[in-house]
Amino acid sequence: MPTVAIVGASGCVGEELIDLLRSSPLGETPPRLFGSSRSAGSSLPWKDGVELVIEELHDGADLAGVDVALFSASGAVSREWAPRFAAAGATVIDNSSAFRLDPAVPLVVPEINGDLVKREPGIIANPNCSTILLLLAIAPLRRLGSFGVVADTYQAVSGAGRAGLDALVREREGGGFEAGNPFPFPIEGNLFPLIGDVGEDGVTTEERKMVDESRKILDWPDLRVHTTCVRVPVERCHSIAVTLSFDAPAPLEEAASLLREAAGVVFAADPSEPPTPGPLARTHPVHVGRLRAAGERVLQLWVVGDQILKGAALNAVQIAELWRTR
Ligand SMILES: NC(=O)c1ccc[n+]([C@@H]2O[C@H](COP(=O)([O-])OP(=O)(O)OC[C@H]3O[C@@H](n4cnc5c(N)ncnc54)[C@H](OP(=O)(O)O)[C@@H]3O)[C@@H](O)[C@H]2O)c1
Repeated sequence: MPTVAIVGASGCVGEELIDLLRSSPLGETPPRLFGSSRSAGSSLPWKDGVELVIEELHDGADLAGVDVALFSASGAVSREWAPRFAAAGATVIDNSSAFRLDPAVPLVVPEINGDLVKREPGIIANPNCSTILLLLAIAPLRRLGSFGVVADTYQAVSGAGRAGLDALVREREGGGFEAGNPFPFPIEGNLFPLIGDVGEDGVTTEERKMVDESRKILDWPDLRVHTTCVRVPVERCHSIAVTLSFDAPAPLEEAASLLREAAGVVFAADPSEPPTPGPLARTHPVHVGRLRAAGERVLQLWVVGDQILKGAALNAVQIAELWRTR
């Protein structure tokens, strides 16, 4: 039975990875958990009353025997440690952005390009959370022809990890905006179009990820993608307002039928009952609604998905399960 390791086990993504592995064929052997000195030595529940102790990731850590390493710590941790796990024989599935645009590293959404997963030591990158949710909804519509994309996101605070959730809860409970929290502005009763750093062209790193990663995953280098990424005071689930401008007529009924059949998508056909993030927290599929036409060549839709699950942990475990079948 393969042995799985989770690096960043105590975080928002890590706790979902543990939960998903409990019911996965990859969880027949208990996973090894890794963290920094902050969580090392503490334990997390596994199943059948078993507790798993977090090991510290340090130079003396024994990496032998790990078949699959699920990384959910930070870009810096991945850059240092993913190659070391791979050199020790593991296939690393990395949730950070460290390797996503490396031409030698597959960037995988199983429903779209799962054929890239190979059973060999190395690194596989898990895409940006908003990008995964967007592409699950729009990739099936390529059958209607070529299009350009405008995608504006409404991103939950947990996209910034535990520190993001803590900031919202603290402000809700009357605490002020504290320096050192992951956000540049107060988030309770507010929102801001600023996720990540702003580049010289005025585009943020989060927006840039959506453009570059969409092109790589769809193998569509000149895909036109324009995004504005907005942080909103929602705990969990990102939402995306999408406008697709086709080069030729794109019939609404055909789009609806493609979305009804799309893998990993739940299509809400009734426009008066759009998916909303609150009740959809902890669900696995991506939910698509408000599909409508604006003329013959423009389709608009609304996308909601749990960014910690399909946008991170679930997508990573699905990649690992594909790895197992190779
Ligand atoms: N949250 C999301 O919606 C989401 C979606 C897609 C991708 N991601 C990516 O997934 C990764 C984890 O995100 P998260 O939201 O789970 O963050 P988080 O809640 O802040 O958790 C971070 C985890 O990283 C561990 N860690 C930090 N420094 C470490 C070190 N030096 N060595 C080993 N472990 C270390 C922490 O363990 P200690 O407590 O021991 O420090 C903690 O378990 C990030 O790269 C993030 O960009 C997150």
